[in-house]
Amino acid sequence: MKDYEMLSKIHFDKQAKIYDQKNTIYYSKEGKISCADIAKYLENYEYDNLLDVGTGTGYLIELLNKQKSASYFGLDLSDEMIKIAKNKKLPNTIFLTGKANSLPFPDNYFDVLTCSQSFHHYPYPKEAMAEAFRVLKPNGIYILSDTGIGGIAAWIDNNIIFPLMKSGDYFTTNKNGISKMMIEAKFNVIAKYQIKRFIYTVVGEKPLIIK
Ligand SMILES: C[S@@+](CC[C@H](N)C(=O)[O-])C[C@H]1O[C@@H](n2cnc3c(N)ncnc32)[C@H](O)[C@@H]1O
Repeated sequence: MKDYEMLSKIHFDKQAKIYDQKNTIYYSKEGKISCADIAKYLENYEYDNLLDVGTGTGYLIELLNKQKSASYFGLDLSDEMIKIAKNKKLPNTIFLTGKANSLPFPDNYFDVLTCSQSFHHYPYPKEAMAEAFRVLKPNGIYILSDTGIGGIAAWIDNNIIFPLMKSGDYFTTNKNGISKMMIEAKFNVIAKYQIKRFIYTVVGEKPLIIK
């Protein structure tokens, strides 16, 4: 099987220096839309700590820091994206390299876990979701915002187009697909909406009592 993880790393290591500035598709355009939506969702939400998985250059944490003081953690596969994030010297923030399927944090640790425009790169989506569930506290929330489609178009992307691409894109689905995956991972889905065209947000809550 193609090494999607390695392709993502190479792709984003190359993009890092210009990612924030290049406000176009395949750079930060969709990320800025998703991050603004996540920040809006969290505007009046109480939390002490938050982990952003696939944080890239830390754009979301930059926004959230202006909005609320808390302990922020940003994790990303690409050393170069993390280097740019660290150079922003954001307060109360730790950026680290790592993989979405193996989060270096204890169980039941975070109030909020976010993932903006990154999930479609994971060649292990179920494992990444299980990790999100593990590190969240009971009642903690998982906010996943991404770009994607469903139906036959998704099948064509996932089985024909993505295997030919070199950007590390692994699989596409829409808000219903993510919602179904969250339910399978034992989350309660508490919000699910389209932001703009193919960009959506789904929010899952880790239940207090896991059945
Ligand atoms: C399109 S960027 C989005 C960055 C940021 N979240 C935003 O919205 O601007 C996707 C990010 O996901 C990261 N990524 C891809 N696969 C990953 C994985 N398996 N684990 C952690 N991060 C990953 C990439 O390195 C990249 O920085």
